[in-house]
Amino acid sequence: MSETIFTTGTDSPNAAPMGIIRKNYRNQIRLFEGSQTYENVVNERWLVVNVVIDPVVFVRTAFGNLDYTEFDTFSIDNKQYPFLKDALIYILFECSDLKFTKDTLVADILPVHACINRNVIKAPNRGFNAVLDASIHATRYLVLGGEQYLNLIYELEKIVKKCGGTREKQAMRLLYNLLNIDD
Ligand SMILES: Cc1cc2nc3c(=O)[nH]c(=O)nc-3n(C[C@H](O)[C@H](O)[C@H](O)COP(=O)(O)O)c2cc1C
Repeated sequence: MSETIFTTGTDSPNAAPMGIIRKNYRNQIRLFEGSQTYENVVNERWLVVNVVIDPVVFVRTAFGNLDYTEFDTFSIDNKQYPFLKDALIYILFECSDLKFTKDTLVADILPVHACINRNVIKAPNRGFNAVLDASIHATRYLVLGGEQYLNLIYELEKIVKKCGGTREKQAMRLLYNLLNIDD
C-alpha cells in the first residue's frame, strides 16, 4: 500500500490522503463512502495521485481541504486536471471495474499520464511514517471514537519526538490541535 494524496474534481479541486493497493500487478483503490473523493471518483471516474513527502499536507488534507492557490492544473485532451504544486510526482489514473459494497468502493486504476514535478530525494524517516499512522488513527477516532485510538496516537507521538524533523513535529502538533488534545 502506497500512501499518497489524491486530487479530484473538475469544477472544485479536492485533496485527500488515500492509499494505492498493488495486487497481482494491478493497482486498486478502496474508498469509504462519505468522502468528497469517493463522490468525485464515482461521478468522474478519474483521479490524480500526488506523491507528497510533507507530513503537514497529509494532516491538513485528512481533516480539511487545501487552499485553492495550493493546486495547479494540467491539461490532457483539452480537459483540466488538478494536482498539488507541492507534489514530487503526479499521475493521472482512469478508474475502471468499479465494485460497490455497503460502504466502500473498490476500483482498478490505470495510469494515463505522469509527470515529475519536483526532484527531491529523501531517505525514509520514522517520524514521517508515525505521522501517517497517527493521522489514520485520528480519522478513525473522529468517526468511531474510542480511547484505543488516542493511546496509539500518544505512542506514535513519542516516535515523532525522537525521530521526526521540524515538519513532522509541526504536523503532530496540528493533529493534536485538530483533535483538541494536549501535548
Ligand atoms: C495516510 C492516510 C491514508 C488514507 N487512506 C484512505 C483510503 O485508502 N481510503 C479511504 O476511503 N480513506 C482513506 N483515508 C481517510 C481519508 O483521507 C479521510 O476520510 C478524508 O477526510 C477524506 O477527505 P475528502 O472528504 O476531502 O475526500 C486515509 C487517511 C490517511 C491519513
